[in-house]
Amino acid sequence: MSTPPPGKLALPELAAMKRRGDRIVMVTAYDAPGARFAEDAGIDIVLVGDTAAMVVLGHEGTTVPVTVDEMLFLTRTVSRHSNRPLVVGDLPFGSYHVSDEDAVRNAIRFVKEAGADVVKLEGAGPSLSRVRAIVSAGIGVMGHVGLTPQSETILGGFKTQGRTASKARQLLADALALEAAGCFAVVLEAVPEPVAARITEALTVPTIGIGAGAACDGQVLVYHDLLGLTEGRLPRFVKRYANLAEEIRGALKTYAGEVRSGAYPAEEHTYPMPEEELGVFLADGVEHAHRDG
Ligand code: KIV
Repeated sequence: MSTPPPGKLALPELAAMKRRGDRIVMVTAYDAPGARFAEDAGIDIVLVGDTAAMVVLGHEGTTVPVTVDEMLFLTRTVSRHSNRPLVVGDLPFGSYHVSDEDAVRNAIRFVKEAGADVVKLEGAGPSLSRVRAIVSAGIGVMGHVGLTPQSETILGGFKTQGRTASKARQLLADALALEAAGCFAVVLEAVPEPVAARITEALTVPTIGIGAGAACDGQVLVYHDLLGLTEGRLPRFVKRYANLAEEIRGALKTYAGEVRSGAYPAEEHTYPMPEEELGVFLADGVEHAHRDG
């Protein structure tokens, strides 16, 4: 992999953060303002998640429909506005499921065409050889186990994973296998806290939790969820740090009211013109404009 530009969080720094006990902060972003706000807030990792399918593109309750080209478009925008945070391009459903070659080809597109620093994919099992192939091509891979939304139908919905001893054991084995395959970090989604704690202890690479409790080495939340832009029922692990949906609706209502009442635009929102030019212009009459035009 090429040397990161100065200022960019270096990949090995994440494992060093785990060793020091410094928590890693990750958030999703899908556009330039989101990337800039994340950078200003000192976020370590920005994930251009395939949750874009739901929170940006409006697909109801599924990440499956988002395409590689749509993800590349969003990732390119975020990369352009991320200096320090590591930008993770999320490989969407279908982009790494057919073969290792396909996975490598698509991962390269995220790095070359969209400026992603690394990529993320879901699952273990068949995903392990994909991880090995992408890492062999010189691209860092973040793993993702537990609730893996791309296989939500097989999992029987958006449900907590690893709640029996055998399933928890399987999750631990999957996370260890992802580390052995070369992942630099593993997302644990919707997993009981003690299971996430056991996995975090067993791995030398960091775990990033979402609905996996406080023992993980880092946390990730979806931008729209934490800022209160997502409405309706949210998963239990989401904490809302703002209520932007209400703020935005209020601002748009006020704008609409002021346009209709004539309160907007006021004089301070208009451009002045020299008095003498205005006098000439107003004296011209419409025929002048017809003739000159
Ligand atoms: O796509 C996404 O936003 C994710 C996070 C929820 C981890 O995978």
